[in-house]
Amino acid sequence: MTAWDPAHYEQFERERAQPGHDLMARIDLTAPHRIVDLGCGTGRLTGLLADRYPTADVLGIDRSSEMLSEAAGRVRYRQADIVEWEPDGPLDLIYANASLQWIPDHPRLFPRLHQMLAAGGVLAVQMPLSWDQPSHRIMRRVGEEFGVDPQAPPTLEPTAYYQLLGEAEIWVTTYYHRLSGPNPVFRWVSATGMKRFLGQIPYDGHDEFRARCARLIEEAYPAGPDGATVFPFRRLFIIDRA
Ligand SMILES: C[S@@+](CC[C@H](N)C(=O)[O-])C[C@H]1O[C@@H](n2cnc3c(N)ncnc32)[C@H](O)[C@@H]1O
Repeated sequence: MTAWDPAHYEQFERERAQPGHDLMARIDLTAPHRIVDLGCGTGRLTGLLADRYPTADVLGIDRSSEMLSEAAGRVRYRQADIVEWEPDGPLDLIYANASLQWIPDHPRLFPRLHQMLAAGGVLAVQMPLSWDQPSHRIMRRVGEEFGVDPQAPPTLEPTAYYQLLGEAEIWVTTYYHRLSGPNPVFRWVSATGMKRFLGQIPYDGHDEFRARCARLIEEAYPAGPDGATVFPFRRLFIIDRA
């Protein structure tokens, strides 16, 4: 996997953060004591959790030292892999915005996270559902020419999470992001979803892979008469309660 680049990732900060805000708004806890943000990235949303729950102990976990180097504030941060990380006690809130689609084996992962919750605790998750969108179909098609074996994200059909979690609230939202600037959808996906592909391509092929994808993605998402490009983006939300 190629390294995360915080400056590139934050280019569409407002649009990327909106689902994180929407997920947070559906958490109905009044005073959780122990909160963990899994895959916290630069810690922007982790800081908002800390502001919303000022007396809570808030911990951000991420594997990327590059992303964590941007994190600050009263939150504690730890560099760790979600696959192996274990809390040292029951948690009142596990928040995971746009991160668990990078973690394999959801039939194992979700029950494991559920078991980390204290009684009355909440697991709040948001994951993109972009694998079948034109942007990702293009990356798959070009990737095949570069010998990439396309590894679909581990994200399951929405209803499968009921089988794993039992009582939960599950919904899907399509955001119609209105983006500006040149080829914005390419700039968006090249900071995130493209990592699945670049990780399998030798470094000296990255520029050509990017250039081929850039051209096709620009054609698939043309700018409108006002110069803005609309990027439809589906996302899956889960609120699970212990
Ligand atoms: C799309 S970013 C989301 C960041 C943040 N949650 C947000 O919404 O802005 C995904 C994050 O998940 C982290 N990540 C991916 N796989 C991980 C793993 N196995 N363990 C810990 N963090 C991981 C990446 O380093 C990255 O910071």
